[in-house]
Amino acid sequence: MSGLQGKRILVTGAGSGIGRVAARLFRDRGADLVLAGRRVAALQETLPDAEHVSLDQADEAAVAAFALACAPLDGMFLAAGELRTGSVETTQVSDFDAMIRANLRGPWLMAHHLGPKLKEGASVVLVGSNIGIRAIPDSAAYSVAKAGVHMLAKVLALEWAPRRIRCNALAPGPVQSPMVDARLAASADPVGDLARLSGVNPLKRLGTGAEVAALAAHLLSDESAWTTGSVITIDGGADAVY
Ligand SMILES: NC(=O)c1ccc[n+]([C@@H]2O[C@H](COP(=O)([O-])OP(=O)(O)OC[C@H]3O[C@@H](n4cnc5c(N)ncnc54)[C@H](OP(=O)(O)O)[C@@H]3O)[C@@H](O)[C@H]2O)c1
Repeated sequence: MSGLQGKRILVTGAGSGIGRVAARLFRDRGADLVLAGRRVAALQETLPDAEHVSLDQADEAAVAAFALACAPLDGMFLAAGELRTGSVETTQVSDFDAMIRANLRGPWLMAHHLGPKLKEGASVVLVGSNIGIRAIPDSAAYSVAKAGVHMLAKVLALEWAPRRIRCNALAPGPVQSPMVDARLAASADPVGDLARLSGVNPLKRLGTGAEVAALAAHLLSDESAWTTGSVITIDGGADAVY
């Protein structure tokens, strides 16, 4: 029997990229899914038969209202996020606020309001980033927010342990997705940037959504029952090299 059979799992950011691939994989492994994002049409395109929720995860009133009506959950994969580039000096404060809002306030609110809806033994996977661990130029606000996501996973692991609820964070390197496509499309040198993004890891390629989703599925299943409070890099080995 699949590790996700019959589990009710909420996926944010399920309308594109990693969240979409993950939702489809979790469905194939037997999960009952609640898909959340701001564009319902995109959620429907991911999986027409799942439950769809139009939700800005950084809007507290909306998250609180959703949580009130939400049936108990066996897991959450919080993949929603947004990337804006820039250094500390070149990033507008409004963009800094937007990065904290989309990437840190969002998962915080989801944990705050939906924590009480998690069943004993549930598992939550947050999506951080390997640039929330190691600094690179020009993604300052995003990186700082993702570093906060990693700590949020550790704090939640501690707080939820008495209910046997686990929480871990993934820290992916660059993965083929609309987020990376948009970043390359905005670049003055997309071919060079793609080569640089792929070249920083020993495997010399971008990751795929399927590779990240498979790790998330493991963390959401009971086969990872002793793994909690971990920040797990999935980055082609980039974290291993100086
Ligand atoms: N791709 C990479 O290289 C990479 C690397 C490391 C980490 N990550 C992280 O992995 C996650 C998935 O990224 P991706 O590459 O799959 O990007 P993506 O294709 O741009 O997907 C991001 C999703 O997040 C949703 N979203 C954004 N802000 C939201 C909000 N306030 N409320 C609800 N939903 C929101 C978007 O849907 P709507 O616009 O419909 O709301 C979108 O479906 C993100 O957290 C990202 O930071 C990505």
